[in-house]
Amino acid sequence: MEPDRSLPQAASVPRTAPDPPTQTLFDRVGGEAFFVRLVDAFYQRVEASEILRPLYPDPELSGANERLRLFLIQYWGGPTTYSDTRGHPRLRMRHAPFPVYSTTIAAWLDAMSGALDEVDPEPDIREELWAYFERAATFMRNMDG
Ligand code: HEM
Repeated sequence: MEPDRSLPQAASVPRTAPDPPTQTLFDRVGGEAFFVRLVDAFYQRVEASEILRPLYPDPELSGANERLRLFLIQYWGGPTTYSDTRGHPRLRMRHAPFPVYSTTIAAWLDAMSGALDEVDPEPDIREELWAYFERAATFMRNMDG
């Protein structure tokens, strides 16, 4: 159909400055270094936690550290190394071997909250991360009580 020339055309509408390109959270925090700091701070707390530490099968937490770091980097818009090496995250399934009670979730979130305090991102970044962590951790529950 012919465009109706009596209507203003897009080209005649005053142009405003183009929107800045949308940045991922990965970009906004400055990339990988932020996630290295966050996940290191988190695993220091896991190491010290009587609830969380016994759940981790490896004597070393370095492998778990790397997996969480790569996962978060991918989730927030950075490189996809996590899925390139580990495949689809299927996080609930991957947590099935570990009993996750509401107390376990509280301990995990407490460790992550402490880690966020330590790395101290901008408030809007913290809010976004926290909303996600609360949702994701609750989703991992696989035990009553
Ligand atoms: C709710 C409490 C949680 C507990 C107790 C828990 C515990 C664990 C344990 C014991 C492992 C195995 C460690 C290893 O990979 O060697 C693991 C793996 C993992 N967790 Fe959690 N987790 C919790 C929540 C979460 C949340 C909220 C996320 C994401 C935001 C997450 C992301 C991961 C990832 C990416 C892995 C590695 C998966 C893989 O590639 O094998 N976890 N978690």
